[in-house]
Amino acid sequence: MSTIAGKTVLVTGADGFIGSHVVERLVADGANVRAMCLYNSNGSAGWLDESPVRDDVDVRLADIRDAEYVRTLVKGTDIVLHLAALIAIPYSYVAPRSYVDTNITGTLNVLEAVRAEGIERMVHTSTSEVYGTPETVPITVEHPLRGQSPYSASKIGADKMCESYALSFETPVTVLRPFNTFGPRQSMRAVIPTILNQLLAGADEVHLGALSPKRDFTYVADTADGFVRAATTNLAPGTVVQLGTGRTVSIAETFDMCLAATGSNATVTTDEDRFRPAGSEVEILLSDPSQAAEVLGWTPRTSLEDGLKQTAEWLRDRVDAKRAEVYHR
Ligand SMILES: NC(=O)c1ccc[n+]([C@@H]2O[C@H](COP(=O)([O-])OP(=O)(O)OC[C@H]3O[C@@H](n4cnc5c(N)ncnc54)[C@H](O)[C@@H]3O)[C@@H](O)[C@H]2O)c1
Repeated sequence: MSTIAGKTVLVTGADGFIGSHVVERLVADGANVRAMCLYNSNGSAGWLDESPVRDDVDVRLADIRDAEYVRTLVKGTDIVLHLAALIAIPYSYVAPRSYVDTNITGTLNVLEAVRAEGIERMVHTSTSEVYGTPETVPITVEHPLRGQSPYSASKIGADKMCESYALSFETPVTVLRPFNTFGPRQSMRAVIPTILNQLLAGADEVHLGALSPKRDFTYVADTADGFVRAATTNLAPGTVVQLGTGRTVSIAETFDMCLAATGSNATVTTDEDRFRPAGSEVEILLSDPSQAAEVLGWTPRTSLEDGLKQTAEWLRDRVDAKRAEVYHR
């Protein structure tokens, strides 16, 4: 493993939940960070706007779909961490073409720029959603891929573009495949913020979708640690590495743990419109964490219980009671 200190690192999706934590970790480790945030007319850098490292990074507003400008931003960097994506599964049911453009073409633009500029290393962000409902658990990187939602299909497409660049051009890309990540700054689309927001808003009855699906949740600081390790580890081009804990809990169990984290005794009710279509619901995600330990020396440090407490603490002063019960797609 080399050191990240002194390296110039481009982070795409730096304005987002995981990206902003990765940027903070990189700055703490002494990297020079170029932070690509989605262009908007009010100059917002998303979550970086409230980060203590906002003035320590070179923020560039851009769109990952613009190949020429992506190349301009890649030029002069040592390492590229590619996190920009559209990530909501429900929105992918209604606007799938945006997912193809952003997630597949966007990744192609980054790969092409990395190849043309001779960049030392690229880390592409995959997702455990690429497996669909698994045939066997725990899931290993050899497990077949199944596009159970347009989001999943677009991420499979992006992963396959990385594979093709690794095989065809030996592009030094590592495909990092996080399982569900949670923590401060996560969007209300995700299940843990959905539960915690309603509980902290004082709900007696919390509205959720299906309670039976099981997920393997990683705390965001651990995910950020995985990115730094992947950025500094010289793996064969195209290597896929999973980031997950090896523990899976149902949404019903997650709800109970959120009650414990907030001291609430609310009950739960399920809303039909929050359910995914039957063929699209992924019933269980459970990672085999042994490969990440072996190739990156990565093991998650924060338990789900502790991470939920930290997330609830962060959310406590930010709860928007009027919007807590709204279903965010
Ligand atoms: N959150 C999870 O549980 C999870 C799990 C596995 C993988 N991932 C992956 O991690 C990455 C980051 O996800 P996140 O949870 O931080 O989501 P996020 O939505 O907070 O971050 C994604 C960022 O990408 C940016 N973006 C979207 N379209 C863009 C475009 N056209 N040009 C430039 N930027 C654009 C958005 O502004 C956003 O800030 C994604 O690639 C996602 O697929 C997330």
